[in-house]
Parts: sequence; C-alpha cells; structure tokens
Amino acid sequence: MLETEFCKVKLGNPTVLASGILGTSAELLIRAAENGAGAVTIKSIGPREREGHNNPTIFEWEHGLINAVGLSSEGYKEMEDVWEALKKCPVPVIASIYGANVQEFIEVAENVAKQKPAIVEANISCPNSEKHGQVFGCNIDASAEVISAVKKAVGEIPLIAKLTPQAPNIAEIAKACEAAGADAICAINTVAGMVINIEARKPVLHFKKGGLSGPAVKPVAVKCIWEIYEAVKIPILGVGGVSSGRDAIELMQAGASAIGIGSGVHFKGIDVFKKVCSEMEEWMNENGFANVKELVGIAHE
Ligand SMILES: Cc1cc2nc3c(=O)[nH]c(=O)nc-3n(C[C@H](O)[C@H](O)[C@H](O)COP(=O)(O)O)c2cc1C
Repeated sequence: MLETEFCKVKLGNPTVLASGILGTSAELLIRAAENGAGAVTIKSIGPREREGHNNPTIFEWEHGLINAVGLSSEGYKEMEDVWEALKKCPVPVIASIYGANVQEFIEVAENVAKQKPAIVEANISCPNSEKHGQVFGCNIDASAEVISAVKKAVGEIPLIAKLTPQAPNIAEIAKACEAAGADAICAINTVAGMVINIEARKPVLHFKKGGLSGPAVKPVAVKCIWEIYEAVKIPILGVGGVSSGRDAIELMQAGASAIGIGSGVHFKGIDVFKKVCSEMEEWMNENGFANVKELVGIAHE
C-alpha cells in the first residue's frame, strides 16, 4: 500500500528522514531506517569541516523549532568511515551537499558521487559567496547554474534540488532547476524567523535569527509544494511540519510524492516514521485508497 518510487529509486514507504536532523552519524541514520524511514538523508556535507554557530543553536518554542546551527558539518574528506558504515543501511541513502560557490558544489558533488549514494540532494538554500551572500535558491540564474554543474558532476545519480521558501518565486526557481537537469525538487528548507525571551530581553539563539521548522511551517510547505506541482513535471519531496499521517497526506495531496520528516523526530521520537506510516494506512483504508501514489496532487483536481 505504501510502497512507491522516487526518482526511480524504490522506497518501502514515502517517509524520508530530512537532512540535518540526525547529523552524519551512520548509527543514527540506520536507527531511523530501522524505525520505519523509507530513505534517510545525511546532514549537508560541505567542502571542509565547519564548526557552525555558537550555542544555543536550537530552541523549542510553542509551534516548532528554531535553529541556527550555521551548517556545522563534516567536510567530504572526513566522511570515509560514515560511508563505510552506511553500507549496512537497509534503505536508500540521500547525500545532501552544499557549497559557498559553484566550484565548491562541484568539488563536493564529485567526491560524494564516488560513494554512490542512491540520490544526491543539493541544498541550494545556502548563501552564494560570489553573489554578495545572496542565497542560491533565491535567484533563478544562480539556482540553474549550480544545479546544472552538480548534475554534470553526479552523472547518472538522481539529483534533488532543495529549495528555500524565502524565494518569492519558488515555482520559477523549481522550473529553472528542472530545466537545468534536476530529477526532483525538495521543498521546503526552514523559514527565516526569530524568537525573543522577553524576561531575558534577548533572542533565544546566540546567532539571534534562525530557521523555523515543525508545525508552524506546514502551511508554508503546503503552499510551496502546491505551486511547484503546478510548475514542474519532476517529483517533489515535500518537507515541513510533518509529524502525523494526516500531515503527510496533506503534503501529498498538494503534490509531494515522498515526505521528509525533520522536527517530527524531535517532537515524536525516532519511531515517528512507523507512526506516520500506520496512520497513513489507516486513513487510506478508511477513505478507499489502495496505493499511496493515488494521493499525489489530488487536491488539484
Ligand atoms: C537542526 C536542524 C538542522 C538542519 N540542517 C539541515 C541541513 O544540513 N541541510 C538541509 O538541507 N536542511 C537542513 N534542515 C532543514 C530540514 O531538513 C527541513 O527542511 C526543515 O526542518 C523543515 O522540515 P521539518 O518541519 O520536518 O523539520 C535542518 C533543520 C533543523 C531543524
């Protein structure tokens, strides 16, 4: 009932561990797979090790999380042991990558491709050092340029372009990525925001501003997925605020073929994938759906 494909990669179910939530620990990624994730995404890997921002980098508020981890991550050169350990991962592994310019993206993509992940995801929600720090995914030309370069670097491996909801024209960005060779679109990354502790009279994060995720961003994700679905033919990995079967079905009805879960792991535990799947099955049985693929985009009909 829940089996599906994404970019021709077979998935036991459409739930995917989103990037950044369980870092680059093979042990944790495998644990997500054992707890029902249909695929797992590694935290974005860059050209070299990065420390990221100072603590506190993540804070839970009433409607979700806010984080400013600052893309703290391992560089691809420190990933050898992780790739070796991930050979035991029972589900497809998605390698998320980022760079500060096109050349860095190419360098990381070429190296990551050698490890033959099932799919590569280019996180283009990061600043472009050559364009005054403007986020790649907010500019049509920069998005197309980086996706075209990464696609050449990864060859036959399917490529997902992960977009930011900060783009005023996300559907246009998605179209440009599709034309540049992306095999799928992932939407959305976190939404820019800020939370202040009024007693302390200070922002809760050391970096002050951060990215919102969790329940607060679900309507933003639904709108972005809806617009992208109407603009492109390639499949969409919908992410944003999913922690129940109903949430997942809502994103699928908007047009997502698979569903990323990030903050949901924090709020519901690592077996959130199993819970979401059984709730989806229950809803589908009650509503007369035999196959999860039938849900994709039906709210547009
Ligand atoms: C702590 C944290 C770290 C994240 N790191 C990454 C990352 O390295 N790369 C990326 O593409 N997205 C990253 N994200 C964004 C998530 O993958 C996801 O797009 C976003 O959180 C929305 O989904 P959610 O509401 O299910 O969490 C991160 C999110 C959080 C909360």
